[in-house]
Amino acid sequence: MSESTVAEAGTSNVVGILGAGRAGTALARVMLAAGIQVDICSTRPPKALRHHLKIYAPGAESVWPEEVAVRTLQRGAGVVVLAVPQEELDEVDPEWVAGTVLVDATNTWHDELLPGWLQAAVDEQLPSSMAIAGRFGGSGGAKVVKALNHIAHHDLEETAHPELPLAQRRAVALAGDDQDACARVMGLLVRMGFDPVRLGGLPAGKIMEPDGPLFHRSLRRDDLLRYAT
Ligand SMILES: NC(=O)c1ccc[n+]([C@@H]2O[C@H](COP(=O)([O-])OP(=O)(O)OC[C@H]3O[C@@H](n4cnc5c(N)ncnc54)[C@H](OP(=O)(O)O)[C@@H]3O)[C@@H](O)[C@H]2O)c1
Repeated sequence: MSESTVAEAGTSNVVGILGAGRAGTALARVMLAAGIQVDICSTRPPKALRHHLKIYAPGAESVWPEEVAVRTLQRGAGVVVLAVPQEELDEVDPEWVAGTVLVDATNTWHDELLPGWLQAAVDEQLPSSMAIAGRFGGSGGAKVVKALNHIAHHDLEETAHPELPLAQRRAVALAGDDQDACARVMGLLVRMGFDPVRLGGLPAGKIMEPDGPLFHRSLRRDDLLRYAT
């Protein structure tokens, strides 16, 4: 994937975020600071979410979940970040993200009561992103890329440095099967102020999970490349 593909993919301007909690709003703040427009939704109607966003993600647009995909596909890079707890994923309609690049920023916490399709994958020790791709991908569905799950919300703003050259930034991992989808996500991560490293296809996302060596660790590109497949 060429650097120009990555750079070009990073210039489109509306990104959607599903979930307006700790992760969703911290991601929104970093994107907004980088000049990216953010559409965000939660279980609450847009009007009810507005006050929360004024405090936690000023400048983000509150939208209905059904609007997220169409708005980023028409006015942005077609990227939606999934920042909803995995135990709630049965309530997320795959139609909301159809046709987008879906950044799976979720994690498996073993105290959550997971949907059956996700628990089955976890029981088989498969990466949770593969189950998420099974649920939200498929024909006409989303292209899933695992990213942004391994940085804690309280570290996101402090460690995002768009003003620094790539080599001096925090490196962040991504894993995905589709080259173009990965290029879009890398473009977004560069704009946000990180140094993105693709570890491999979606199965490589396993190493990014909470019990893996990357989780909540501030690393550089060379550290991440050791885990690339
Ligand atoms: N917290 C972190 O540092 C961090 C960092 C990276 C990744 N993550 C991962 O991101 C996921 C979310 O974590 P969190 O800490 O942000 O959780 P959280 O603070 O509990 O926020 C969850 C958000 O998801 C929304 N939501 C729940 N069901 C929904 C649905 N059906 N449709 C739309 N929105 C829905 C909630 O809506 P309401 O606001 O209306 O309740 C809330 O805004 C987890 O898998 C977590 O592991 C977290």
